[in-house]
Order: sequence, then structure tokens, then C-alpha cells
Amino acid sequence: MEIVPDFSLKKHNTFGIEAQAKQFVAVHSVQELKTILQENKTQQKFILGGGSNMLLTKDIDALVIHIDLKGKKILEENENFVWVESQAGESWHEFVLWTINQNFGGLENMSLIPGNVGTTPVQNIGAYGTEIKDTFVSCEAMTIESQEMKTFTKEECHFGYRESIFKNEAKNQYIITSVVFKLTKTNHKINTSYGDISSELAKNNITNPTLKDVSNAVIAIRQSKLPDPKELGNSGSFFKNPILLKSDFEKIHQQFPEMKYFDISETEVKVPAGWLIEQAGFKGKRFGNAGIHKNQALVLVNYGNATGQEILNVSKDIQETIFNMFGINIEAEVNVI
Ligand code: EPU
Repeated sequence: MEIVPDFSLKKHNTFGIEAQAKQFVAVHSVQELKTILQENKTQQKFILGGGSNMLLTKDIDALVIHIDLKGKKILEENENFVWVESQAGESWHEFVLWTINQNFGGLENMSLIPGNVGTTPVQNIGAYGTEIKDTFVSCEAMTIESQEMKTFTKEECHFGYRESIFKNEAKNQYIITSVVFKLTKTNHKINTSYGDISSELAKNNITNPTLKDVSNAVIAIRQSKLPDPKELGNSGSFFKNPILLKSDFEKIHQQFPEMKYFDISETEVKVPAGWLIEQAGFKGKRFGNAGIHKNQALVLVNYGNATGQEILNVSKDIQETIFNMFGINIEAEVNVI
């Protein structure tokens, strides 16, 4: 375990932004993590997973600890269910494929989401009608201050739309080291309710889809809409879809009757930020080295040598324009550092 000074983080963030860590270390076991935390008690620390949900706008004046814990296994199973555990540093998509190859159901709609397993509970990742909280059982986390391990059950995680305790009350206090999911072995709950999935399956004449079929459909949709970070730096959806009180939404909707929305409760609706951004004319636009993806307006992209600040400026311009046009605030989903 070597602490490297002045380390470039370009390959450690999917936006592909050039920024330096004052010090960088990769840890490969819980014991190594404990040692590093004990030996660097007074140092400022920054925890890095897959780097798929952050925008670096400056160098990091801290010890960057990259969580590179590997391993996945079956903890328990019965006739109908299996409990699988993955270490935090496993690639999410590879983990999903591993479950599908064994015919374990529950994660297939979340195929091809970038990032590592350990950060999935932080923002309760989700796609195509499924969220991590639907199959999540618990996670293990190390307390940064005391290095004690703590188990968080699903209830304790306080999951919400792209939200959890790790973004709120427990922020910067824990490092997730492993996650347990409960998946189906029989009677899979195939979920093709999200429009894009059913049309993709119909296109291929699949009427009775397997887990693999659903995963392949999701992969095809994502590849058609979302840029591959290896080719064009990005961090997936840059913004969250705003949630509005129905009473507020109705006033806005009268003015913009064509506005898309989804009911999420008796009192709230979710408005697709991608729609708002597209209406505001940003889709496919380029500003210097930064821009808005041509197939999905929620995704900001780095055309090569953008700085984090350039991308942040574009995001602020979008937020301001949307607010002036519709009176709606859209919040960043990515962590701006
Ligand atoms: N839309 C537009 N223009 C656009 C993009 C979207 O009008 O450029 C409209 C679409 O017509 C559609 C609606 O917005 O009616 C929803 O679009 P889409 O299905 O593409 O999903 P999204 O709400 O834009 C969310 C997630 C994605 C996830 C998809 C599919 C958030 C912030 N984003 O996007 O997650 O893949 O649903 O489930 O909730 C991510 O978080 O990084 C991410 C990619």
C-alpha cells in the first residue's frame, strides 16, 4: 500500500477531468483501510469509489483513499431466494452480469450503470423502473473516526429518490465496504413497465423475456441514449428530476400544457429535467469543451479538455434558464467537488 504524492485523477473520474490529489492511496482490504485511517488520523481525507458521480472543479488537497476491495459471493440461499454479497470496489455492471449469468433476478434493469458497487447505496441508483432499494438488504461500513464496522439495514439507509442517509445525516462519516442484495432464483419479477424496455423487446419480437433479454434491452437503450464515458467524458444524469407539489405543478402546467410529468404520490409529481432542458434549447449544444449530450439532455459531456469549472458553468447556465422559463429549480445529482 503506497501513498503517492501529486497523483492525477483523470483516469479516476468518468468525466475525464484533469485534477490532482495531494496524496493518493488504493486500499485492497478492510484491514488496509483501517491501517490507512489509523495512520492518517489528522489528515484531510477524500473517499473515492468509481468516480462516476462527481465533477472535479479543483485539485483535492487531501489524502484520496480509493476503495478497491474486490470479491463477490453467495451468502445464503433457499429454494426461491439468494443473498449475494459484493465488496465495494467491484464494478457494478460486472456484478450485475455475474448475477444474471447465474439466473439471479432483481438487478437486470440496472445493467450498464457506471460506477462501483460500494457507491450504489449512497445515491440509491436506479434505472428503468428499478432502484437499488428494491433488492438491497444491508451494507457494511467503516466509521472513519473510530474505524469500527457498522451494519446498515435497508430501513437505516433512509432511501429516497437518489437519496440515502449517506448523503445526509451520515455524510462523510462512513466508508461502505460491502453490500448484500436479496435476489430471486425462481418467479423472477420481470419489470418491463418502463416504456423504452417494452418497445426494445417488441422490436426484437421477444414476448416472454428472460433476465438476460431484459438486461440486453437495457444495455441497447443505454447505449443509444447515453454516451460511453470511455469515449466521451460524462457522469450520467447531471441533474435530478425535480419533484414538485401537485398544487405548484398545476399552476405551471396551465402555462405549459405539453409539460411531461409522472405522478409519484397523492401530493407530488416528478417532471423530467431532460424535457425541460431540451425545451430550453440546450440539447446537443456545445460551449467550448463542455456540452449537453445530443441524445439525452440530462447528461453533460466533456469533449476532451474541459475543466470542471467549465462544466459547472454550463450547469449553472442551464439551472438559471430553466428557473427563468418555468420557475422550477433543478438540482445537480452529481457531487460537485
Ligand atoms: N426527455 C426529453 N428530452 C431528453 C431526455 C428526456 O424530453 O433529452 C423526456 C423523455 O421524453 C421522457 C422523459 O424525459 O419522457 C424521461 O426520459 P428517460 O427515460 O431518458 O429518463 P430520465 O428521467 O431522463 C432517468 C434517470 C436515468 C435513468 C433513466 C431511465 C434520473 C436523474 N435519471 O432519466 O439515470 O437511466 O431515468 O430509468 O433519475 C443516472 O442517474 O445517471 C441515469 C442515467
